[in-house]
Amino acid sequence: MAPIRKILLVTGGGDAPGLNAVIRAVVKHSILSHGWKVVGSLEAFNGVLDDPMRVLPLDLVSVRGLLTRGGTVLGSSSSGGPFEFPQRSPSGGIEIVDRSDELIRRLARSGFDAVVSVGGDGSQRIAQKLFEKGLQIVGVPKTIDNDLDATEMTFGFQTAVGTATDAIDKLHSTGESHDRVMILEVMGRNAGWIALSAGIAGGADTILIPEVPFDIARIVEHIELRQRRGSHFAIVVVAEGAFPRGGGTVTAQASRPGHPEPILGGIGRFVGEAIEAASGLETRVCVLGHLQRGGIPAPMDRLLASRFGVAAVDLVADGRFGQMVALRATDIVGIPIRDAISRYRSVDLGDNLIRTARGLGICLGDAPPLTGDHSSAVLE
Ligand code: F6P
Repeated sequence: MAPIRKILLVTGGGDAPGLNAVIRAVVKHSILSHGWKVVGSLEAFNGVLDDPMRVLPLDLVSVRGLLTRGGTVLGSSSSGGPFEFPQRSPSGGIEIVDRSDELIRRLARSGFDAVVSVGGDGSQRIAQKLFEKGLQIVGVPKTIDNDLDATEMTFGFQTAVGTATDAIDKLHSTGESHDRVMILEVMGRNAGWIALSAGIAGGADTILIPEVPFDIARIVEHIELRQRRGSHFAIVVVAEGAFPRGGGTVTAQASRPGHPEPILGGIGRFVGEAIEAASGLETRVCVLGHLQRGGIPAPMDRLLASRFGVAAVDLVADGRFGQMVALRATDIVGIPIRDAISRYRSVDLGDNLIRTARGLGICLGDAPPLTGDHSSAVLE
């Protein structure tokens, strides 16, 4: 393998707390251990594809203070990427063009020996295709949704769960004061990891996730039982990708050129209105939205991001291109990027989180409430 002298660092897709900690770790390990130069591309690969190129040389001074900073100092982009690059057509509309060959030529001309791509499944798909075209690239998994396969966790997830749990704690006090059903809609795309984790940690009564289609009647049954037991409020956590049995996901915005994924949103309101109509109970809906992506990364995200950043540099040093760093048990390993993108990582119905939620009597919207404690019988 030709010696590595200069690497490009790219952050793509939706931001996640811990991105800056990865940047810091990659820069530190590259410079201190190997003497490489590190350059960041602004707004994913867009910076390299722009004229003039928009790139940022990264040295030890430029990463000072980054460990605790949310977002990414390199900026990010979730639209298109080099294979489906949206650009203005001569007629004034948007046309999608493949600029991947041009990207690879530009990188070679500018003397980049390897690329570290930090991103979720969309970014890792792009990394895999660039690798298949001969680019020396490694991946670092990122997403608050925790929905990337082959790694047990992505950084950003723990901060998002912390933010959502904090919101549930706050909804408890106001919900209890007004005897209301409080609905909290959280992110997670088509996986229920954030909803399930924060819901259990925050003591929610009902958690609705995409993996378990729900029935409003079941939720109302559960809330009414709670009422008979003396709890006159309820907390319902709804993942943005959850949907009723026989129905579909609710989207806030359809897909459009350069943004192939529709933007999810609105299921919280749907659930709130349906519960109110079926039970007559007063409901309020809170959509947590992008608060889950912002803020100071939780310590465990900083730790995972730092471990991933150092391990990604190790993959480059070892020439293990086409691989992505991943958390396996307590270790960080390199696995083929293609393994991470071959399957969407949603919550398995046999997962311990599901068992835990059911064991705690939390309603998942699909089954009658647990009544085995006999105290309900006494109260009824
Ligand atoms: O994938 C991360 C995520 O925050 C999802 O949870 C959410 O559905 C989506 O991104 C929102 O994306 P955008 O940045 O387009 O609002």
